[in-house]
Amino acid sequence: MKVGFIGIGNMGGSILKGYAKSTVGTGNQILIHDATTENNLAMAESIAESGYTNKDLVICNDNKELAEQADIIIIGVKPGAVGSVLKDIAPAAGKTIVSMAAGVSIAKIEAALNDAVEGSGDAAKIIRIMPNLPARVGAAMTSMSRNANVDDDAFALAKTIFDSVGRAEEVPEDMIDCVIGVSGSSPAYTYMYIEALAKAAEANGMEKDKARVFACQAVIGAAKMALESKESLEQLRINVCSPGGTTIEAVKKLQANGFMDDVIEAFQAAVDRSKEMTAQ
Ligand SMILES: NC(=O)c1ccc[n+]([C@@H]2O[C@H](COP(=O)([O-])OP(=O)(O)OC[C@H]3O[C@@H](n4cnc5c(N)ncnc54)[C@H](OP(=O)(O)O)[C@@H]3O)[C@@H](O)[C@H]2O)c1
Repeated sequence: MKVGFIGIGNMGGSILKGYAKSTVGTGNQILIHDATTENNLAMAESIAESGYTNKDLVICNDNKELAEQADIIIIGVKPGAVGSVLKDIAPAAGKTIVSMAAGVSIAKIEAALNDAVEGSGDAAKIIRIMPNLPARVGAAMTSMSRNANVDDDAFALAKTIFDSVGRAEEVPEDMIDCVIGVSGSSPAYTYMYIEALAKAAEANGMEKDKARVFACQAVIGAAKMALESKESLEQLRINVCSPGGTTIEAVKKLQANGFMDDVIEAFQAAVDRSKEMTAQ
C-alpha cells in the first residue's frame, strides 16, 4: 500500500511519525509533500531513523504527483488550505481521501472536488477524521466518518493507519463536534488537571519532576483501569473512597466546588465553538 501525506505539520506529522514506527507501517511506501521544503527533509530524516529506507519514503514534488501515486491520501493542512489541495488532487480523486481539517465537512470536500473536476466529488471515497495530539506518542483517539463510496475494505485499510497511532472508532459525521469536546480538545483540560495535581504535590514538599511523574502516572493508571473495567465510572470512584478515609474527603470537596459541572461546561464551550466554525 502507498500512503500519501499532504501537509506534515503538527498533526499530520505526528500521525506520519507514529505510523512509520508501527508494524502496520512496515513494508508500505510513504509519500510526502509539504509546502515547506524543510518539513519534507526533516521528516525524511526522522523517518529514516525509524527504520524506513530511502526506497520506502518518497518526497513528491507536488500534491498532484503524490495523488497520482498514492492509494490513500491523508490531508493534514489547515482548514483554509484544504480547498487548494483538493484542486490539486481532484484529477486523481479515485483514491481514498482522508481529511482531518476541523470544520470542513464531507459535503464541502465533495463539492470542492466537483468544482475542480466535474463528477470527481460524487465518486470520491472520503473519510473525515478527528484525531488528537497524543498521536505523537502513539496514544491518539481518532474518530472516523465516511461517505457512501467508502466500502468496508477501504475503510478497514484506512483504520489500520489510525489504530497504529492509538485507537480509532467510526462515528457518524454529525458526532464530530462532540468528538472535539471529548477527545480532540480534552488533552488541554486533562493537562490542567495534571498541573493542579503536580502543583499541589509540590506545595506539599515533593520535588517538581517527581510531582509531574506521580500526577501523570496516576492519570494514565486511572484511565487504563476505566478502559479495562466493566464497572461504571461512578462505581470505580466509589471503590477508591473507603468510608472515613482520605479519598472521600477530596471527592466531597470536588463535588462541593462543582468540579464535574465545570468540566461539562468547558466541554460544551468547545463543542459550541466547533459548531460555529462548521457553520462559517
Ligand atoms: N493540531 C491539532 O491538535 C489538531 C487536532 C485535530 C485536527 N487538526 C487538523 O489538522 C490539520 C493540520 O493542523 P496542524 O496544526 O497540524 O497545522 P500545521 O502544523 O500548520 O501543518 C500544516 C502543514 O501543511 C503545510 N501546507 C499548507 N498548505 C499546503 C499545501 N497546499 N500543500 C502541502 N502542504 C501544505 C503547511 O506548510 P506552511 O506552514 O508552509 O503553510 C504546514 O507545514 C488542520 O486542518 C486541523 O484542523 C489538528
